[in-house]
This record gives sequence, structure tokens and C-alpha cells, in this order.
Amino acid sequence: MKVAIVGGTGAFGRGLAQRLAAAGDDIVIGSRDAARAQEIATAIGVAGAANADAVRDVELVVLAAKAEGALDTARRLAHAIESTPLLCVASALAFGRNGARPAATGPSIAEQVASVVDAPVAAGLHSIAAGNLAGEEPPDEDVLVCGDDAPAKELALELAGKVVAGRALDAGPLAVARALEGLTAAIVNVNRRYGGHAGIRISGVA
Ligand SMILES: NC(=O)c1ccc[n+]([C@@H]2O[C@H](COP(=O)([O-])OP(=O)(O)OC[C@H]3O[C@@H](n4cnc5c(N)ncnc54)[C@H](OP(=O)(O)O)[C@@H]3O)[C@@H](O)[C@H]2O)c1
Repeated sequence: MKVAIVGGTGAFGRGLAQRLAAAGDDIVIGSRDAARAQEIATAIGVAGAANADAVRDVELVVLAAKAEGALDTARRLAHAIESTPLLCVASALAFGRNGARPAATGPSIAEQVASVVDAPVAAGLHSIAAGNLAGEEPPDEDVLVCGDDAPAKELALELAGKVVAGRALDAGPLAVARALEGLTAAIVNVNRRYGGHAGIRISGVA
């Protein structure tokens, strides 16, 4: 699969790029700065380009820009993305005395992104820590994906299934992204309390 990772210079995008390249996918990481994309891409053995160039002629765009900039990034790239399916992995967190919490109070970032692009949007991978993606082996966890457009969700599930040792599971419509984005806060808090690198496992399904 040919995949562009917008904001692929971050820890999550780099880890994802490495996992997918190892699985045989054709990966281009994007950045707001083409030179930065190329430098990091060369270091990890994939292609690199400015975000707007990276998203052209690919089968799937992964929106892995910093969560607070994800919506503006999608808006700016909408013309270049055209109708290419997009997978949004963003989770915006707020931090307080009692730990991390979901920053979004209304629609998820993914739902907002879907309202500014012409492309079908899926959301997922929120429960995978960047550090777990960067390990030697695929992380021993499951991964959840949601979306309203069946073909886009299938592509996202295909990608998700390549980056974990567990299963990529369909969690339903795009509105479920509110729960999936919130899950990242729960995982951050579990890691802080118990000192690990938590992921999720769904029980009770084959
Ligand atoms: N880190 C994790 O463990 C984890 C887990 C689950 C989900 N996620 C989600 O995955 C995404 C990437 O995570 P990350 O930790 O790699 O994030 P990050 O390092 O904070 O940001 C990723 C990239 O986004 C670009 N960026 C920074 N500020 C931006 C802005 N204002 N507008 C547009 N682009 C901006 C930067 O690339 P350039 O400067 O090169 O453009 C940066 O390298 C986030 O949306 C996050 O919520 C992360």
C-alpha cells in the first residue's frame, strides 16, 4: 500500500513509517518543512516531502500531525488530498492535577477533520504508544478503528493490522472516535500510575 504520513516527522509518525516500511509498504512522510521530512525520511529509509506533496498519488493518508494542529492541517491540505481516504490518529489531551483527560468536549478531532476534507475519514490507532511502535517487534496489542465509509475503514484496518501483533478491530462509526481519542488519556494515566507501556486487548471475540 502507498501511504503518506502527514506530520510523519513526529515520534508517532516515524514509528508508524518504520513499522509499515518493514511490512513492505511504500511510505512517504510529510512535514511542513520539506527538508526536515527528507532528513528524517532518509534516516529511517522511507521517502519524505512537504505535506502537500506527500499526500498526492497515495492510497491512504495518515493524519499524524500534532493533535492541536491536525484540523488546520487537514483544512490546508484538503485540496491536495482530494478524495484519498484519510486515517486520523490524533488525540488531544489536557493535563490537570488528577492526570490526563480528553481535551475535546464536543465532536472528535476526526469528525471535525471529516467536515473540512472531501475525503472519507476513518480514525484509529489512538491506543498505540509511539514508543511501542518503535520497538523491534510489532507491539503485542489490539487496535481499534472506526469510520462511516466502509472502503476507507477497510484500508485503515488493513494498515492497522500490519503494525500490531494483535488484531485490528472495527469499532463502528466515526462518532466512536470520541471514545477512541479519549482512550489515549486513559492509557497515559495507566502508564503513569503503574509505570509501563500499556496497550489494549479486546477479549471475547475471535
Ligand atoms: N505519541 C503517541 O504516543 C501517540 C499515541 C496515539 C496517538 N497519537 C497522535 O499521533 C499524532 C502524532 O503524535 P506525535 O507524538 O508524533 O506528535 P508531535 O511530535 O507533537 O507532532 C507530530 C508532527 O506534527 C507536526 N506539527 C507540530 N505542530 C504542528 C502544528 N501546529 N500544525 C501542524 N503540524 C504540526 C510536526 O511536524 P513538522 O514540524 O515536521 O511539520 C511534528 O513532528 C498526534 O495527533 C497524537 O495525538 C500519538
